[in-house]
Amino acid sequence: HKIDWDISDAQKGGFKHFMLKEILEEPDVIVEALRGRIKNGEIEIPELDFDKNYFKNINQVYFVACGTAYHAGLVGKYLVEKYLNIPAQAEVASEFRYRNPVIDERTLVFVVSQSGETADTLAALRLAKEKKAKTIGIVNVVGSSVAREVDKVVYIHAGPEIAVASTKAYVAQVEVITLSILHLAKIIDKLNEANEKLFVEEFQKLEGFAREILENKEEIASFVSTTKNIEETFFIGRNLDYALSLEGALKLKEIAYVHAEGYPAGELKHGPLALITPNSLVIAIDTFTPLSDKTISNIKEVKARGGKVLAIAKKDNTRIKEVADSVFYIPNVLDDLTPIITVIPLQLFAYYMADARGLDIDKPRNLAKSVTVE
Ligand code: AGP
Repeated sequence: HKIDWDISDAQKGGFKHFMLKEILEEPDVIVEALRGRIKNGEIEIPELDFDKNYFKNINQVYFVACGTAYHAGLVGKYLVEKYLNIPAQAEVASEFRYRNPVIDERTLVFVVSQSGETADTLAALRLAKEKKAKTIGIVNVVGSSVAREVDKVVYIHAGPEIAVASTKAYVAQVEVITLSILHLAKIIDKLNEANEKLFVEEFQKLEGFAREILENKEEIASFVSTTKNIEETFFIGRNLDYALSLEGALKLKEIAYVHAEGYPAGELKHGPLALITPNSLVIAIDTFTPLSDKTISNIKEVKARGGKVLAIAKKDNTRIKEVADSVFYIPNVLDDLTPIITVIPLQLFAYYMADARGLDIDKPRNLAKSVTVE
């Protein structure tokens, strides 16, 4: 499963970088990940054809992964708590594998991995199985080690991802994790028909929403041109927007080599606010509507210290432009599906920042596409 690096530039399809090509594939990936999983207006993941008995004893859920896949798992944590009403945790595999996770046959472990070959993730999977936990793999590479060793695998069908920085795989991971959780909620009668119908309608809007965001990608490019010399930045958000802040920060670190921290918006005042000066840039992710007003207060905290704020917000967020210096608007997507498309402007922000610095975007220094060693 090694990426064969003499992949010719011709395979970049005329794009400057594989990463840009793969970001622009995201609307199609959103459709592919959905294929065969919404039938006659119902959500159904055939690979998860458990009966109720399999699932009725589950009393906790883990998402275990590394890097971007971990950030996709963190979205899953919030959604499991909300739709399955079961305790859920997301944990990086390198920590999970070296502690004593208190898990057993009543634990369901989602193992998320694009390559299916990440050493820490594979070791965590093997530890989970030793402890008799049930395992579901959310995997891109068909026939990979993780795919072969989990109890059930749900492929994300994102196609080959060549750029080291994961983009379209994250979008597909979050989409398939969300679909899987909703499928499991149906099995235990926790997803009512009205909710399912709403989700089905909203999933089918995602492709168009993604295309709309990509049509406005120059807005991100021009914002980046005004901030391309930043040395560090914070990404802040709450709930699903916090999970996104971690992914936005990772992208900027790994391809633009800018120090970036994803932080819970409510935590700035507990210390990091001391770092905010008139030279600071903060990316505030405010797309999770129920907490929007709280995030707006956090933006005001940054502004009061002179920091510059780029907000990512939904079109129907009328208050945000009064507080942020710049706003990138995304379509009004259903709150629980925001990560699938809100990540796109974050990926573009990192891409344009790295391109402005003339960096080797597809093969960032020190990094490998699949970390098959510890
Ligand atoms: C993502 O941009 C990174 N390249 C990296 O964090 C990656 O997500 C991580 O190594 C996990 O890889 P996997 O999904 O193949 O297991």
